[in-house]
Amino acid sequence: MVNSKLIAVLITIVFFYFTVSSTAKPSALVQQIKQQSQEQDKEPFVGVNIGTDVSNLLSAKDLVSFLQVQKISHVRLYDANPDILKALANTKVRVIVSVPNNQLLAIGSSNTTAASWINRNVVAYYPETFITHIGVGDEVLTTVPSSAPLLLPAIQSLYSALVAANLHTQIKVSTPHAASIVLDTFPPSQAYFNQSLISVLAPLLQFLSKTESPLMMNLYPYYVFMENKGVVPLDTSLFKSLTPSKEMVDPNTLLHYTNVLDAMIDAAYVSMKNLNVTNVSVLVTESGWPSKGDSKEPYATIDNADTYNSNLIKHVIDQSGTPLHPEITSSVFIYELFNEDLRSPPVSEANWGLFNSNSTPVYLLHVSGSGTFLANDTTNQTYCIAMDGVDLKTLQSALDWACGAGRANCSEIQPGESCYQPNNVKNHASFAFDSYYQKEGKAPGSCDFKGVAMITTTDPSQGSCVFPGSKKVVHKTRAVVNSTEVSSGADRLELFTFHTSHITATTIVFCISLFIPFGITR
Ligand SMILES: *[C@@H]1O[C@H](CO)[C@@H](O)[C@H](O)[C@H]1NC(C)=O
Ligand SMILES: *[C@@H]1O[C@H](CO)[C@@H](O)[C@H](O)[C@H]1NC(C)=O
Ligand SMILES: *[C@@H]1O[C@H](CO)[C@@H](O)[C@H](O)[C@H]1NC(C)=O
Ligand SMILES: *[C@@H]1O[C@H](CO)[C@@H](O)[C@H](O)[C@H]1NC(C)=O
Ligand SMILES: *[C@@H]1O[C@H](CO)[C@@H](O)[C@H](O)[C@H]1NC(C)=O
Ligand SMILES: *[C@@H]1O[C@H](CO)[C@@H](O)[C@H](O)[C@H]1NC(C)=O
Ligand SMILES: *[C@@H]1O[C@H](CO)[C@@H](O)[C@H](O)[C@H]1NC(C)=O
Ligand SMILES: *[C@@H]1O[C@H](CO)[C@@H](O)[C@H](O)[C@H]1NC(C)=O
Repeated sequence: MVNSKLIAVLITIVFFYFTVSSTAKPSALVQQIKQQSQEQDKEPFVGVNIGTDVSNLLSAKDLVSFLQVQKISHVRLYDANPDILKALANTKVRVIVSVPNNQLLAIGSSNTTAASWINRNVVAYYPETFITHIGVGDEVLTTVPSSAPLLLPAIQSLYSALVAANLHTQIKVSTPHAASIVLDTFPPSQAYFNQSLISVLAPLLQFLSKTESPLMMNLYPYYVFMENKGVVPLDTSLFKSLTPSKEMVDPNTLLHYTNVLDAMIDAAYVSMKNLNVTNVSVLVTESGWPSKGDSKEPYATIDNADTYNSNLIKHVIDQSGTPLHPEITSSVFIYELFNEDLRSPPVSEANWGLFNSNSTPVYLLHVSGSGTFLANDTTNQTYCIAMDGVDLKTLQSALDWACGAGRANCSEIQPGESCYQPNNVKNHASFAFDSYYQKEGKAPGSCDFKGVAMITTTDPSQGSCVFPGSKKVVHKTRAVVNSTEVSSGADRLELFTFHTSHITATTIVFCISLFIPFGITR
């Protein structure tokens, strides 16, 4: 948002294919890998914004493990944090890196500075770190209009530097905009870009079109709703299913809108079409809903945040596009991964996160079964187990340490006990590691054991062997005495939920006029 806090949840709409440069003849394997990632990159996805205004931010390494546990495959950073970019190497997590607004002046006025930015923040990490986009500034036209004249020069210089590094087909350059650059969003067919911004937007769109890059938009139905109470129904803002009579109908196209986000996306398409640009897609770099607010924000609740973000994820995964462009589903970066407790008031600013800074979920998303993103990892539990294929001696000494100095409870892996079989180092180490990890409250760093341990969301319990932290209820049969004790670590089975959001003053102003002229059928 306004400042260069790296905290937004990004909704990316990705249906751009990477054109792989064909300068050299790559090996068949490299070709295959490239093809696979091209296939993947055609699918719309849900990513997250990672804001770092958090008092106890995970270390870069723990952050990346956390992303993997949560199966988060796309992230947007608000800068080019070297520790995070390094930790993301070889993880396949796709990354948008950003140029903070305060660096626009330097980059926009010197090709040399732009080239060294690219070398330092992109070339140094690519391809091990899978950088897909460079976001140049954030909401520049609306929050720092004085920098607007530098925006396009900065974008072009960065692009030239990518060309020089031969990375311009793999990495796209664009800039995230506030929703308020589009006026009269409702009905979407009558939307248009603020005419005062056309001198920047028109050449920018030419650039995006020529380079097959997306128009990045930060879109918050939450603010639209807050500024238009009584006009925009809460259910429409939250993607709740509506009876046909409650759907909003665009009188010009007769298209039915069941949710506010689709209308905002289509308004951007219509605005581009007014400038004769028809082949640039919209990537939602931020969207979300706050889970807590002060007395002036009564709709910032856990329930609404959960509903919005759960439905948002399902909407992307369903790939149903928008009424105007059913063939294009925008990818979305949720704002944001963590609650940023250090953000200044209003209260909602610190409560857009899906997770608390200690990585516990703020609420449990309802996306189970809907596909890939967090979907099958919705239990609020993680376990620590031994990695596959690691050196057995290291594993044995880690096991010895866990059961000794580490004071893990290793009674269940003693001969005759439930977890003794299969009797091998890996199995026993997994149990001991997990016991230690649960005892330490799953604290960051408590599942490392010199790199031979890993966190998993899959319950490792088997048969009568119940791992610490498991929710399984097992009636154990012991050799001598029958007992019916239940694993002491059993918690309730819970689902993860998701949520995010945040916005600027300009966006709020814009939103006030958003839906007013929109015909609501009764
Ligand atoms: C930067 O490079 C572009 C294209 O490579 C060129 O058109 C422009 O004049 C250069 N700008 C400066 C300030 O050297
Ligand atoms: C359009 O943009 C200009 C320049 O940033 C701004 O002053 C004006 O308030 C905007 N108009 C609307 C209706 O938002
Ligand atoms: C979009 O259209 C412009 C001009 O019509 C063209 O130069 C550009 O290559 C097109 N881009 C894509 C991605 O097709
Ligand atoms: C868009 O194209 C139409 C028809 O070709 C033309 O009349 C109009 O001036 C163009 N608009 C812009 C903004 O280029
Ligand atoms: C997830 O579990 C932790 C303890 O392991 C708990 O503190 C937290 O409240 C749980 N989160 C939810 C959303 O239930
Ligand atoms: C996720 O769960 C659904 C329903 O249980 C299942 O059909 C799907 O295969 C699972 N996906 C993955 C990646 O495990
Ligand atoms: C260790 O685990 C066993 C079996 O689950 C339990 O009976 C015992 O009380 C535990 N010991 C300690 C010190 O927690
Ligand atoms: C132990 O429990 C099993 C199953 O409940 C039962 O068949 C068996 O007779 C019991 N053994 C003893 C010694 O009580």
